[in-house]
Amino acid sequence: MLALVKSCTIYGLESFLVDVEVDISSGLPAFDIVGLPDTAVKESRERVRAAIKNQNFNFPIKRITLNLAPADIKKEGPHFDLPIALGILSATEQLPAESLKQYAVVGELSLDGRTKPVSGILPMAIEVKEKNLKGIIVPEENVEEAAVIQGIEVIGVNSLKEAVDFFKGDLNIKPVRLSNEKDFSPESEGDFSEVKGQENLKRCLEIAAAGQHNVIMVGPPGSGKTMVARRIPTILPSMTFEESLELTKIYSIAGFIAGRSGLIKKRPFRAPHHTISAVGMVGGGRIPKPGEVTLAHYGVLFLDELPEFPKEILELLRQPLEDEKITISRISATITYPAKFMLVAALNPCPCGFYQDPFHECSCSPRQIHNYFSKISGPLLDRIDIQTDVAPVKFSDFESSSVTDSATIKKRVENARCIQLERYKGLNIYYNSQLTPGLINKFCKLGRAEKLLLRDAFERLKLSARAYNRILKVARTIADLEESDNIKEIHLAEALRYRNLDKYYNNLKM
Ligand SMILES: Nc1ncnc2c1ncn2[C@@H]1O[C@H](COP(=O)(O)OP(=O)(O)OP(=O)(O)O)[C@@H](O)[C@H]1O
Ligand SMILES: [Mg+2]
Repeated sequence: MLALVKSCTIYGLESFLVDVEVDISSGLPAFDIVGLPDTAVKESRERVRAAIKNQNFNFPIKRITLNLAPADIKKEGPHFDLPIALGILSATEQLPAESLKQYAVVGELSLDGRTKPVSGILPMAIEVKEKNLKGIIVPEENVEEAAVIQGIEVIGVNSLKEAVDFFKGDLNIKPVRLSNEKDFSPESEGDFSEVKGQENLKRCLEIAAAGQHNVIMVGPPGSGKTMVARRIPTILPSMTFEESLELTKIYSIAGFIAGRSGLIKKRPFRAPHHTISAVGMVGGGRIPKPGEVTLAHYGVLFLDELPEFPKEILELLRQPLEDEKITISRISATITYPAKFMLVAALNPCPCGFYQDPFHECSCSPRQIHNYFSKISGPLLDRIDIQTDVAPVKFSDFESSSVTDSATIKKRVENARCIQLERYKGLNIYYNSQLTPGLINKFCKLGRAEKLLLRDAFERLKLSARAYNRILKVARTIADLEESDNIKEIHLAEALRYRNLDKYYNNLKM
């Protein structure tokens, strides 16, 4: 007997329908799986065999051949257990074949036949809807994750038996419906109004958010670098529905949202530790999962204590910073994940933290300081538009009451983003940090006085060529925050202040 059950597989961020074909014939007992399965799929055999027996069904002592089609896509993960088990039961007439046709089935099985949640349910539900199937059968814990997608039936089952009874018509399981208005984002990290003083730093991050510029902060321990960084998502523009859906897909594939419902509506903040592995940072692994650069998509990737990160890990950031995506090569195929994040890095000005501090003595030798900074490679710095010093917090700052909250800053940021969207219509870029040299010439024109100012500053501050375009882009954002069509002297002068790291490099060379 031949049976067919539909299921799904994940490739990158997308899901594809897979036909699970089961053929049972007489001959020596065997159980073969063909059609590019990975080891987790091959392991299904043992789980399925035990699950079928333990749920009091008959496991055929015959020759079982299983084909996963189309054969050219690699099938990964344990979520084929449930469709394989149903296929075997259908091929042995323990289940009517007709009823299976309308649904896709996914789920891992434990040896006793209960279902276990799997990752990637959201993209699978999207695919089921696109292919006009009636619905999807998922483990109970995954129901809410899939139910965000409207227009398909989402049926949750706790065990193999429940799935069989549902298809036989013996058990009526109501499809779960959910509104996608629900937001399950983690509680956001505080508000900008909690950060006392540090007006310079806050202004700098407002500019960074407005033009989606990458930022590096240099300051002594305890000056609030980490505290401020955590609050950056609260001043970034709200995400559109499409962005929310894409981000939720990423977290679904990463296996972070089983048991929760709704879409992620807040921008992510990811702060990987410096001991992170290459796979953890960019993604990959046996069953490929997105890494930190993808989990930070549309949000902030924060690298605290930047020089502590191994050079090889920082080098891996070059492709995502350049292309806003990451490509992972694997034996069978290459996968691309999106990785459009704002990079925020923090470091102390020297290993002890007090270089050039007015109140503490620095105990580092020039050589130690040099080594510390030399860990940050030029190519990485090249992709960071804003460099700022962070001053220690003064006692008087704690008593100041006039503080701006995140909502107010966010409004100004959103306004500046609208101006940029309008200006770059049809150019396939959306904000100032994406400006190419050609477009900088077009959109960052300077008047006579501004040119003079820039020339002067270049000679006085010994700025490198790499600084030139960054200063113009940041000045463009500052002008946008003021709703000014032209870049004026005052905008340029402020942009020039955000090249502090160049100063360290220059001092060290002397
Ligand atoms: N400007 C500030 N306003 C209010 N509290 C602050 C401020 N700066 C620092 N703090 C307090 O000090 C704590 C330490 O700050 P934070 O960890 O952000 O410093 P840091 O600059 O990251 O230091 P390190 O270089 O050691 O990582 C914060 O959790 C916060 O409670
Ligand atoms: Mg810190």
